[in-house]
Amino acid sequence: MLPAWMTRRSWGRAPALVSDEGRVHLPHFRYHHRLADKPKDKSPRQAPRALLLGAIAFGAALPLLAGAIATHGAGTDAALDTLLPPTTDFTKLEPGEAKPGGEATSRGSVDTPNAFSLSSGNMDFKRELDFKVGNGIFRKNWVSAPSSTDASDGLGPLFNSRACQNCHLKDGRGHPPLSSDVPDDSGSMLVRLSVPPTTDEEKAELDAHKMNSLPDPTYGGQLQDFSIQGIEAEGKLKIDYKERKVKLAGGETISLRVPTYSLTSLNYGPASPDIMISPRVAPQMIGLGLLEAVPEEEILAFADPDDANKDGISGKPNEVWSREHQKLMLGRFGWKAGIPTIAQQAAEAFNGDIGLSTTMIPKGAGDCTEKEKQCLDAPTGASPKYQNVEVGDDLFAMVAFYSKNLAVPPRRKPDDAEVLKGKELFYEIGCAGCHKPKFTTGDAPGQPHLSHQLIYPYTDMLLHDMGEGLADNRPEGAASGNEWRTAPLWGIGLTGIVNGHTLFLHDGRARNITEAILWHGGEGEASRDKFAALSKADRARLVAFVNSL
Ligand code: HEC
Ligand code: HEC
Repeated sequence: MLPAWMTRRSWGRAPALVSDEGRVHLPHFRYHHRLADKPKDKSPRQAPRALLLGAIAFGAALPLLAGAIATHGAGTDAALDTLLPPTTDFTKLEPGEAKPGGEATSRGSVDTPNAFSLSSGNMDFKRELDFKVGNGIFRKNWVSAPSSTDASDGLGPLFNSRACQNCHLKDGRGHPPLSSDVPDDSGSMLVRLSVPPTTDEEKAELDAHKMNSLPDPTYGGQLQDFSIQGIEAEGKLKIDYKERKVKLAGGETISLRVPTYSLTSLNYGPASPDIMISPRVAPQMIGLGLLEAVPEEEILAFADPDDANKDGISGKPNEVWSREHQKLMLGRFGWKAGIPTIAQQAAEAFNGDIGLSTTMIPKGAGDCTEKEKQCLDAPTGASPKYQNVEVGDDLFAMVAFYSKNLAVPPRRKPDDAEVLKGKELFYEIGCAGCHKPKFTTGDAPGQPHLSHQLIYPYTDMLLHDMGEGLADNRPEGAASGNEWRTAPLWGIGLTGIVNGHTLFLHDGRARNITEAILWHGGEGEASRDKFAALSKADRARLVAFVNSL
C-alpha cells in the first residue's frame, strides 16, 4: 500500500489551470502572495507551457523526455513537470535519477576525497576560471589587519575560522570534536546564540521577520572561539555525550549518543541567563545553486503548516528577510532554513565566522558587541580599492559563484536490485514525505546551466518538528526550537570518502545513517518507528539506498 501523500493528485506544484488568455494560474496557497514573486505574465515560458500542460498526459510526454533532460526551452519544461509525481515503479531507474543534479551533475571521478569539489558538469568553459578563483577565496586563510597584502587582511578580531574551507572541509561537512582527547578539534562547528525578546519592540521586529533572532548583548549571535593577537576569544563549547540504547526489530541494539552542551571559559563575563545556544556543523556544499533555483511555488506547494491533509507531516516555510533582495523570501539555507540566498549565507559567514566585511554586511568587526570594546576598536582591513570593505565585490561574487556551482556527484549503482528495494522502502515508510525526491529548477539568473534541470535532492527545504530529542530550543525566524529544515540527502553516501567520517545531523551527533534515522522524532517519529520495525535485511537495503544517493 502506498501512503496517502503519494497518491494525491497534485505533486510538486498545485494543479495548474489554463485560463482563457492561455496563461498558467497557480492556485492560491497560503504563503504564495507573501513569499513568491508574482508569476510574470509575459514570461516566454508560460504560454506554451500552459498549452502543453493542458494538452498532454504523462504518456504523451514521454517522447519529450530525452530532450527535456538535455536541453532548455518552453516545451520541455512541461515535460519536466510531468516527471515530478512520485514513482510507483521500483523495478527500474526513473529518468534522470542517476544524475541527481541534472546536467549540472559532476563529470569527474566520484570515488575520491575530491568528489564534492568539482564544478557543475555543464558549466560554460569560460566560467571555469571564475570557479577556480572562487575556490581560491574559499580556501584562502585570512590574516589580521593591517598586513602587506591588502586583499587578504581583516580577519576577526573575533572569529571561528580563518577560511571557509576549514569548516566546509573538502567542500563537505564539518564535525564535532572527533575524540575527547583532542578537546579543541571543533573548528568546523559553530554555536549560534540568542536571547528571547523582552520588549514589545523586539517582539515586533521578530514578528515582522526583519531578523531571525536577537543576539546575546555580550556575545552576539555566535560564539567565536578564536581571536587575533591581543584580544581574547569569547569562549568554548563543552560537549558531554551519554549513550542511550535503542532496540530494533530482530533483537539488535543500537546506541545513540545524547549530547549536552554548555559554554565554558567565557572571557567577557557571564552570558545572558536565558541565553539559547545551537551548535551546528558546517553542511556539505554541493548542489546549492540548484536548490536556490527551485521556484518558490514548487516548494510552497508542499507546505502544509497546519497539517490540513492529516498525514502527520506539516512542512512549514521559514519566511526571512533577504539582505540581497531587500524583501521577505523563502529561507532555504542553514539547518533551520534561516537564510534565503547563497550570497547572503556567504556574507553572513564572512561576517560571523571569519570577521570580514562585505558590501552586504559592512561591519568590519564582525560579530563583536558593544561589550567587547577592544574588538570594536581594532583596525579593520577595509580598503578604498575594495569598496571600503574587507572582501570587495569582485572577490565576493566569485566566492558566491563557487558556492553555487559545486556539483552533485552521480549516483553509485542506483539500479542495484537491493538499492531499488531500499528505495521502495524509503517511499513506503514515509521518508519521502519530507525528503522529497525531485524538483525542477526555474530560471537561475546568470546561470543558464543551473536552469530547467530535473534534480533529485531529497529535501523539501521546509521546516519540520523533529521532536524533543533533536531540539535546540532556540527559535530562528519561523522555526521553533524543535524545527529543522529537511536535510538534502544527495551525495550523503560519499561523506565517508570525502570527509573521513560519517557523522550526521545538525550537530554531528549521529555516527552513521542508522543512528541519524533513529534520532527522527516528532513528525519523523512514525517513519522512524517503521524503520525500527523493519527486518535487519530491509534496514540494510534502506541504508544502502541512502548511501547510493
Ligand atoms: C566556522 C565554520 C564555518 C566557516 C568558516 C564557514 N561556514 Fe559556511 N556554514 C557553517 C555552518 C555551521 C553552516 C550552517 C549554518 C546554520 O545552520 O545556521 C554553514 C552554512 C553554509 C552555507 C549553506 C549551506 C546549506 O546547505 O544550507 C553556505 C552556502 C556556506 N555556509 C558558505 C560559506 C562560505 C562561502 C564561507 C566562507 C566565507 C563559509 N561558509 C564559512 C560553518 C562555517
Ligand atoms: C518529518 C520529516 C522527515 C521524515 C519523515 C524523515 N526525515 Fe530525515 N531528516 C529530516 C530533518 C528535518 C532532518 C535534519 C535533522 C537534524 O539535522 O537535526 C533529517 C535528517 C536526515 C538525515 C541526516 C542528514 C544529514 O545531512 O546529516 C538522514 C540520513 C535522514 N534524515 C534520513 C531519513 C530516512 C531514511 C527517513 C525515513 C526512515 C527519514 N529521514 C524521514 C526530516 C525528515
